[in-house]
Amino acid sequence: MELGKLLYDGKAKQIYETENENEIIMHYKDDATAGNGVKHDQFAGKGILNHTISGIIFDMLEEAGIKTHLIKKLSDTDDLVKKVEIFPLEVIVRNITTGSFCRRTGCQEGLVLEEPIFEISYKNDEYGDPLINEDHAVAMSLCTREEYAKIKASTLKINELLKEFFLSLNLKLVDFKIEFGKTADGEILLADEISPDSCRLWDVNTNKKYDKDVFRQDIGDLIETYKAVLARMENK
Ligand code: C5P
Repeated sequence: MELGKLLYDGKAKQIYETENENEIIMHYKDDATAGNGVKHDQFAGKGILNHTISGIIFDMLEEAGIKTHLIKKLSDTDDLVKKVEIFPLEVIVRNITTGSFCRRTGCQEGLVLEEPIFEISYKNDEYGDPLINEDHAVAMSLCTREEYAKIKASTLKINELLKEFFLSLNLKLVDFKIEFGKTADGEILLADEISPDSCRLWDVNTNKKYDKDVFRQDIGDLIETYKAVLARMENK
């Protein structure tokens, strides 16, 4: 399929127009960024790895009844997806404490939470994606209260499905970020990607990190790490 006009050039993905106004093409780039773009590098093959990993996860979620934007894979790096208006929210779930939660609160690292923590941040680079709550999101017209409730319920279901999926790969789902969008008909769909860029994954036995923290913290080879995640999926 021909790529149409470039509509959006993001940190790790590009969005292209298609001939159908309700469909767009999502292209995975080889770029990795951290710290709101402060740290930036390119890794040959990263786009293919994240596209493949995210595709397997989205297919699993669809089979479990989660509605996603994915229509079909077009190539190693490109998907045809439903055009949605993305809610400007980073929707985050934490099962084990680490990352910005510990930095912000001083909470001990590595606590296994009895109940997942559900968080939203306002997706806005200029303000550093600030943590907000439901009232803020509604007051700022980022979503309605009803949409917030649907997003939260769907996210907690996705957390359960992802936790079980990764556990079957001997990986603990520490936390993750997802994004939702709304179609012209008002249907809320899981959008964007789910990959080691957007999840923290720790080996069940060793707590070794299998995610973008290896790049953020300079503690490992990103491509080898992501290949290892994909290998666990393919050997399942
Ligand atoms: O940095 P923080 O601890 O808030 O990240 C929580 C989770 O959300 C991590 O899995 C991280 O990879 C993901 N995240 C993301 N994109 C962001 C912020 C966080 O994918 N802009």
